[in-house]
Parts: sequence; C-alpha cells; structure tokens
Amino acid sequence: MGIPTTGTEIALTGLGGTEVVTTRRSAPPAPGPHGVLVRVEATGVSFAEVQMLRGRYPAQPKFPFVPGYDLVGEIVAVGSAVTGWRPGQRVAAMPRTGAWAEYAEVRDAELVSVPDGVDAGDAAAMILNGVTAWQLLHRAAKIRSGQTVLVHGVGGGVGVLLAKLGVAAGVRVIGTASASRHEALRDIGIELIDHRTEDVDARVAELAPGGVDAIFDPLGPESLDRSWRLLAPGGSLHAYGSSATLHDAGPWWRPYLGLTRRLARWELARLLGRTGGRRARMYYIRPNAQFRTDLTELFRMVASGQLRPLVAERLPLESAARALDLHISGSRTGRILLIPGLPGSRRGVTAAGCARHAKPVEARL
Ligand SMILES: NC(=O)c1ccc[n+]([C@@H]2O[C@H](COP(=O)([O-])OP(=O)(O)OC[C@H]3O[C@@H](n4cnc5c(N)ncnc54)[C@H](OP(=O)(O)O)[C@@H]3O)[C@@H](O)[C@H]2O)c1
Repeated sequence: MGIPTTGTEIALTGLGGTEVVTTRRSAPPAPGPHGVLVRVEATGVSFAEVQMLRGRYPAQPKFPFVPGYDLVGEIVAVGSAVTGWRPGQRVAAMPRTGAWAEYAEVRDAELVSVPDGVDAGDAAAMILNGVTAWQLLHRAAKIRSGQTVLVHGVGGGVGVLLAKLGVAAGVRVIGTASASRHEALRDIGIELIDHRTEDVDARVAELAPGGVDAIFDPLGPESLDRSWRLLAPGGSLHAYGSSATLHDAGPWWRPYLGLTRRLARWELARLLGRTGGRRARMYYIRPNAQFRTDLTELFRMVASGQLRPLVAERLPLESAARALDLHISGSRTGRILLIPGLPGSRRGVTAAGCARHAKPVEARL
C-alpha cells in the first residue's frame, strides 16, 4: 500500500452557514516522522464543527481548513520514526480537525487500535462523544450504582452516551431534551423532561427530592447556576460546554469566562466548607493515555454487544453540508457520520451541489 496521489477532502472556507462547505481534491501528505496516513472509513459530525462554522470554537482554526474531529480508518503509510503501527491496521484517532477527508494524517502517539468486527461507523461514534461521556461518568463524577444523575441535552451526541453508559453502570438517569427526541430516547430507560415546555428545576426536585448526585451540563453559565441548586449534598456538577450561547453576540470567550468565574466561586466556597460537600468542575477531553485506555474499553463494550451507539445517519463524505444542516436542525437524534466512498459519493463537486443527491443510507436507533 502506498501513498495515493489524490483524495477528496471537505473544507470550510469562511464563517457562515453550509454554503462555505466545499469539496475539493488534494494530494494526501507524505507522513512526517511521527505521522501516520490513514484512509478514513468513518468520521463524525459534532457540535464542534457547528461552533467552528460560527467562529465560536475555543480553539478556532484559521480558514480555510478541513474540519473533522474524529476518525476510524486503515493505515496506508507511516513516518520514518513510527514504531508499533504498520499499513493495514485499523485505527481510531481524535485529531480535532482534518478528519473530513479520504486520507488524513494523524500522530502515532494518538492512535487507538480498533478491534476486528467492530463497524467503522459504530467505532467512530465512540471517539469524541463516547470518551467524553465515559470520562464524565467514571473519571470526573466517579458515579456509583444506585445514584441519580441529571443529563442536560440528553438527546445530543454526548448526552445519549451519558445516558446509555449511565444506565449500564446501574445509575438512574434523568435527562432534558426537546419532546421531538423523546421517542428515540425512550428505549434507553431514562426519565425525560422536555426543557422547552416543562419547569426543569421543579420536575427534577419532584423526581429527586433529595437532589441529584451528579449533573452533566453542557449548556453554559446560566444553566450552571440552576444546576448547582439541584445537587444533593456531596454531589458534583460537571460543566463541559456552552451550547446555549452559540448564537450570543459578543466574543466567543465571554460564556467561558462566566463558567470559570462560577466554578472558582464554588470551589472557594467548598474549600471553606460552605457547600455541603458539593463541588463543580470543568471537563475537557484530551487525546492522552487515559483517552486511549477509555476508548479501548468502549470498543470492547461495542465488540461484546454491551453498548450500541445511536447512529442517526451515514452519509457520503461529499454530503458534509447536508450532514451539518441535519445536525444544526436538531432533526436527528444520534451521531451523524460521514463515510468516504459510500455509494452516492460524487467526486470533485461542491458539497452544496452534492447535497441534492445525498440520501441517508441507514437510519437506526
Ligand atoms: N468539554 C469537552 O471535552 C466536550 C467534548 C464533547 C462535547 N462537548 C460539548 O458538549 C456539548 C454537546 O455536544 P454534542 O456534540 O453532544 O452536541 P449536539 O449533538 O449538537 O447536542 C446538543 C444538545 O444540546 C441541547 N440543548 C441546546 N440548548 C438547550 C437548552 N437550552 N436546554 C436543554 N438542552 C439544550 C439540544 O437538545 P434538544 O435538541 O433536545 O433541545 C441538543 O440535544 C457542546 O457544548 C460541546 O461543545 C464538550
């Protein structure tokens, strides 16, 4: 297997909507010393790309760039200093950008082996969202069987896996989601609150009168204030995003400053013994050794049938604009995946032109 001379990639050319999503051809790079060139089999669409499109991602890349947070694929070439990886192996990685491509270069230290028999799309659905959910539950909150947790945005990519992994760990899960998602979430075995029509705080207090043991909140500063009041003594609050401020005017960092101020204030109060043991923390995923350990465990759970990701759509890579549209519309519950080479792919045309031809080849819940 050698380095191919050309491959398709998707670029975001500037701020805006999906009209800035462009399909182009380019020569895949020869990998650097610690680089590994991967033929991508599946890559995910996530909230991060939506933020990047709006210029509100905390580590915003410069335009134009190839987005794509995570990928699963087969190694086609390795750099001169790479040991332990060879062409033909199936791997997963989280490069944060660059994965919406037929071929992507990733660093050898960030690779995780994908077991035979695990579908590439199912594996890709586990990377960003799965590891985030796993680490929030097991590393940040250290949940125990019998506890009660509240998951805000439980119909989102991370939220669904927080619910599934929470239930698998014997935890009672209360989740907030728009009513349109409830049907798709019903089978997971959680208690649902429609955050658009119900008084969330009152409903949580009714369902868990003593408070909840852990709250996972990706919504932003205002939501965090309400979540803090819903914690049981000794409970923990985990902030990990600011979804509700996507359309705010002002600099992207303002909501994160709001989060940081609140977390600092509560931490000081905790140290002074004034919170009844309640604590609040920020979580941020990193492609480190724990990431690799946790992703390996998630792949094991998928391989053994203990965990099934919720995949909403598998679309050709060239349908990235449509995939983003679907994600933004909130009309799909579960991960939307881009699959290079999926039948229906058209090479060398713009995504906007391609969107007309794209159709979901699989929708399963
Ligand atoms: N810190 C980290 O390392 C890390 C890692 C991954 C993701 N994240 C963050 O996690 C968040 C979720 O990511 P994702 O990919 O799962 O997003 P997603 O699939 O786009 O889901 C977003 C969810 O947010 C919900 N939502 C939005 N506004 C809401 C509100 N006011 N009240 C309740 N729910 C609301 C939506 O619920 P409905 O449609 O049901 O209303 C939707 O289900 C994002 O903020 C992302 O940046 C952080």
